[in-house]
Amino acid sequence: MKKWIISVAGLIVGISLLYVPDTAEAGKKRTFEEDIKQDWAQKVCSNPESKVPPELLDKFLEEQRKLIKYPESGNIYGDWKRGEKLFSNPKKGNCYACHCADPKELACGNIGPNLRGYGKRKKDPEYTYRKIYNSWAYVPCSVMYRAGVHGRLTPEEIADIVAYLHSPESPINK
Ligand code: HEC
Repeated sequence: MKKWIISVAGLIVGISLLYVPDTAEAGKKRTFEEDIKQDWAQKVCSNPESKVPPELLDKFLEEQRKLIKYPESGNIYGDWKRGEKLFSNPKKGNCYACHCADPKELACGNIGPNLRGYGKRKKDPEYTYRKIYNSWAYVPCSVMYRAGVHGRLTPEEIADIVAYLHSPESPINK
């Protein structure tokens, strides 16, 4: 009897976890069905090569650019210390899954380019903001997720990560 109760309880917890939307932290609650529904761009990318057909490329990029929103304050350069935490938190940016950055962090992925010294590469911080908000506005169908589009990071949180990548104070650029 006891075992039976435990396994039913386990099942209920298991099923409820499936339905906990991972966007909850960014303030937007989405259902499981909403999470697995493809938008137009995801449908376009769903082909064996994950490539946008050339005749759709202009429309694709335009649509992706239109999805980018800015912080209400208009400030895209936030606080690098907050950005550092967001960058490494597996439940927020989870950027180390694919990128190396701070040389002290050895557990880093190499699916994306190494971001060490990123601030010295003379990139425009607005590009960095837009890239993180919607990576597909630059590289269609990239494996880099669209943090802002999916509400995984708020515009303010993205601005903090921009500062972390660009600031001369950031360990990335030391
Ligand atoms: C699933 C893997 C993955 C994750 C997670 C990921 N990225 Fe990327 N990222 C990539 C890949 C692959 C590229 C290169 C292709 C492209 O530009 O989309 C890239 C490119 C970039 C670039 C452009 C670099 C340049 O020189 O122009 C920046 C900036 C960047 N990522 C920042 C981030 C940040 C910040 C996070 C966390 C919020 C993150 N990435 C999460 C895979 C990832």
